Amino acid sequence: MVHRHQIVLGPAQETLLIPLYGRAVETRKRHPMAIDPRAVEIVEAIDYDFAKFDGDRSLAGSVLRGLIFDHWVAGFLRAHPCGTVVEIGAGLNTRFERLDNGSCHWVELDLPDSMDLRRKLFEESDRRSMIAASVVDDAWVAQVREYPGPYFFVAEAVLIYLTEADARRAAGRIAGSFPDSTLAFDTWGEWILRNQRRRVQRRRDPLRKMSATLEWACDDPREIESWHPGITLTASHTLATPPRAVRTALPLHMRALLPVMGALPQTKAYRLNLFALDSNASKTE
Ligand SMILES: C[S@@+](CC[C@H](N)C(=O)[O-])C[C@H]1O[C@@H](n2cnc3c(N)ncnc32)[C@H](O)[C@@H]1O
Repeated sequence: MVHRHQIVLGPAQETLLIPLYGRAVETRKRHPMAIDPRAVEIVEAIDYDFAKFDGDRSLAGSVLRGLIFDHWVAGFLRAHPCGTVVEIGAGLNTRFERLDNGSCHWVELDLPDSMDLRRKLFEESDRRSMIAASVVDDAWVAQVREYPGPYFFVAEAVLIYLTEADARRAAGRIAGSFPDSTLAFDTWGEWILRNQRRRVQRRRDPLRKMSATLEWACDDPREIESWHPGITLTASHTLATPPRAVRTALPLHMRALLPVMGALPQTKAYRLNLFALDSNASKTE
């Protein structure tokens, strides 16, 4: 009998299965936005009722979100081929498999139960390490500093599950400890929090099947500049207005869907943001 991994995860941690499954489902489509055979393998290796997410539109949304973060990380690696990418709340993301250039360094950090699962499915190497910790802890900072800068911190669908105080603490610690680095994370607006209760009751929402809750809202990501000196917002996109390079690489049906998505209040309230962690930031796409 084939051994499949059992899932023992806390509520926020269990949400890591949604983007994983999103990439697996996308890979099997006729005209996919992204192809991720590793995600397909991992889904098959986990004992979980993924089918309960079938038909949910936010699976495709999580794939598009990942493409935007990939675009930013790939840009960083072109400029700094030996730099270090730090994935905060890595979940079962396959970003290293997608973007490794053969010379960069990669640190994946997640809570202990998520990291236990990740360690069963991915391997460390001399350029790739995994840390079991909360982003709110202090200890991981010294471990990341063992890798060469500059650093790109990506927290995809992670800080939204913290309290606002913890999200501020995490962003402030990164900004204070790694000047001249870059930080990318997403924010949910007030509309999404207000509608959270209704959302989780809706038939087609995967969060409905989980107990994770969103903790804080941000309608204007420029507010985050006030969280710590040296944080500058350099780009902010909704899923309906991705950077040009991401948009042009999308299959036709997705490009056609963007204006429809853009009219929805939930799309307007969800932003993917890029921050420079120094005082000389320039605008970028
Ligand atoms: C929606 S999943 C996103 C996973 C991954 N970033 C992706 O896009 O596939 C949320 C992730 O945040 C992690 N997480 C939640 N709170 C965290 C914390 N305090 N420190 C580190 N990771 C955390 C969870 O364990 C989970 O892996």
